[in-house]
Amino acid sequence: MDDLLARAEKVLFNNVRRYPVVFTRAEGSRVYDAAGREYIDFLSGIAVQAAGHSHPRIAATIRRQAEKIIHVSNYFYLEEQIALAEKLVALSGMDRVFFCNSGAEANEAAIKLARKYGRQQLGGKYEIVSALNSFHGRTLGALAATGQPKYQESFGPLPAGFKYAPFNDLAAWEAAVTDQTCAFLLELVQGEGGVHPVSRAFLDGIATLCRKHQILLILDEVQTGLGRTGKFFAWEHFGIKPDILTTAKALGAGVPLGAMLATGKVASVLAPGDHSTTVGGGGLAFAVGLEVLRLLEEENLPARAARLGAELQTLFRSWQQELPVIKEVRGWGLMLALELTVPSGPVAQQCFENGLLINAVSPTALRLLPALNIDRSDLEAGLSILKAVLKEFVK
Ligand SMILES: Cc1ncc(COP(=O)(O)O)c(C=O)c1O
Repeated sequence: MDDLLARAEKVLFNNVRRYPVVFTRAEGSRVYDAAGREYIDFLSGIAVQAAGHSHPRIAATIRRQAEKIIHVSNYFYLEEQIALAEKLVALSGMDRVFFCNSGAEANEAAIKLARKYGRQQLGGKYEIVSALNSFHGRTLGALAATGQPKYQESFGPLPAGFKYAPFNDLAAWEAAVTDQTCAFLLELVQGEGGVHPVSRAFLDGIATLCRKHQILLILDEVQTGLGRTGKFFAWEHFGIKPDILTTAKALGAGVPLGAMLATGKVASVLAPGDHSTTVGGGGLAFAVGLEVLRLLEEENLPARAARLGAELQTLFRSWQQELPVIKEVRGWGLMLALELTVPSGPVAQQCFENGLLINAVSPTALRLLPALNIDRSDLEAGLSILKAVLKEFVK
């Protein structure tokens, strides 16, 4: 493994802080490194492997589709593309789908769609309000919408037309509305920002503001989507349907795939030539997406995420007495965080050394994003590593 790490050091950009490990194999919620060590995975590729690693049905789908058809360009249709769009429409409450390759691209498409709608239907309105502490991706438009200066400051000037307001602060959102506002862009649980769920009162207020000022609601469900929070889409928790919805991550199970969905009224403003991308999913990704959705449905994984998530929150709260380093437990479904009284980085590092993959999502919070079908024994093995590590941090 040291040889591989030395080679990586020479040729890869140093754009991400990586653990010094090369993985060679993964199955379910277990991952194996080049030295043969086994790890329990509470990160699942940052909410990508909803049905676990190397699921036999996903692997079989990839093999089958690779021999059938992969890419013909977006001048033509693929059967798998139509079927996946139909399925996503049925599950999301939206009417139309645009496929792309990532969450950032899905949000870029959403920003362009909202701007075109503003130009065509709202008298030229173009401003988008998003939340402070949000995360919408690294491309310039998505980055401009990301309300975190630390991600933006080296890359200015960013596209204009974005405003920010604190998450869950309705008065601030109301104050941010101008006569140019065309859309609000929101995550219902801020993921990269530290797993902060939206409040019911705030979301109700947002829906009222949208109606009152003819503002489009764009929900970024790149991380919350596809069962992660205990519903297929997080908007179902409150029944407040967006005008535009983006999803990615779990949809392709690691094969690049993102989607922007919209209601018919909003989708109708995009005309041929307005927006596209050469691959934008492709046969392999569409077939995998379909199989992912089938697995989520057949195995009732959103409901399992809700059940297991509630159970874990109760468990973590029961640990608080013995482990006062746990200051707060928060999240929905299997999108959870433990706010600690100590820095989270060294805790995640120690977990890694003890064979558990878990993410220090903020300087003081640990994030858990296990596979929605993680089995009991893997879950318990991971929890016992986590508990033992947290014990070491109790002074
Ligand atoms: C809510 C949200 N939106 C967008 C993105 C960007 O997605 P991608 O990394 O696929 O571009 C992420 C990634 O973490 C995310 O969590």
